[in-house]
Amino acid sequence: MTQSHTHDHVHGHTHGHAHNQPHGHDKAHDHAHAHGHAHQHDHQDLADILDLDAEVLHDHLTEVMAWVHEQTGDVATVLDLGAGTGAGTLALARRFPGATVTAVDVSPQMLQHLRHKAQAAGLADRIHTVEADLDGADGTKAADADLVWAANSLHHLADPVASLARIRGAIRPGGHLVAFEMDAFPRFLPGDELETRCHEAVTAMRAGDMPHLGADWAPLLRAAGFTVQAQRRFEIDLEPPLPEATGRYAQTSLRRLRQGLEGRLSPEDLAALEALAEAVPTRPDLTVRARRTAWVATP
Ligand SMILES: C[S@@+](CC[C@H](N)C(=O)[O-])C[C@H]1O[C@@H](n2cnc3c(N)ncnc32)[C@H](O)[C@@H]1O
Repeated sequence: MTQSHTHDHVHGHTHGHAHNQPHGHDKAHDHAHAHGHAHQHDHQDLADILDLDAEVLHDHLTEVMAWVHEQTGDVATVLDLGAGTGAGTLALARRFPGATVTAVDVSPQMLQHLRHKAQAAGLADRIHTVEADLDGADGTKAADADLVWAANSLHHLADPVASLARIRGAIRPGGHLVAFEMDAFPRFLPGDELETRCHEAVTAMRAGDMPHLGADWAPLLRAAGFTVQAQRRFEIDLEPPLPEATGRYAQTSLRRLRQGLEGRLSPEDLAALEALAEAVPTRPDLTVRARRTAWVATP
């Protein structure tokens, strides 16, 4: 398998960098950083959700990639920024069989996980990984791509406009950037009041520590010097029969929600949320509702 840990790309990356940033990353995440085990656990939870997301929303991502391909035409080099466990990386490699895809992430664990998946999918010869911090000035310094894909990663950045302006310099003439962002976390039980209260609490919490979650990225892309060429909203509304992994996806997501809302919901609601997470895999009324938007931009 080909892999590149090009540490020259890394800007002052240290394991606990989030502590030094003035912006708030996920509080649970920051807290978990202080404890080796908790951090490992937190990383594993997020990796599990990303993998389940990729499995449950596989058809949706295939549809998104087909649309991206229509917008960009064939490409030779692709950069997946904040690649996580590689849902986008693998989908891009499949959609663009002539392309090399470089997955960039600040987390070495995510990249290791991604390399295993690329290997298992028989795509390792076209997928490379680079550990880099996109908040840093050198995050994409040596990159040179026809297509830059950033899915649900831009809202994690301290100053997305500054990072996007740097990313713009990594795009070849005629190339594209696609920003793909969720409006909110997925919902599983329509009409469930507890789930509604939890989402309201998360929205209030995120307004403080992740102000760009759910943002309209068109003005932010323009502020970074891009021209927005197209925008499309994808509504996800999965009804039964659902993919086999949906129950586990809902359960892992609700458990993570429960962890993040410690101290922000009443003890009764927290206990009810725990019970809901345990029961959700067998609920016959389980659905998946989410909304994601893609913006296609040129430098
Ligand atoms: C919600 S996940 C999305 C993963 C993937 N793009 C997907 O759609 O499944 C966000 C990812 O961004 C990465 N990330 C967060 N801040 C970053 C930074 N400053 N530089 C590079 N990657 C970052 C995280 O490690 C995580 O893997």
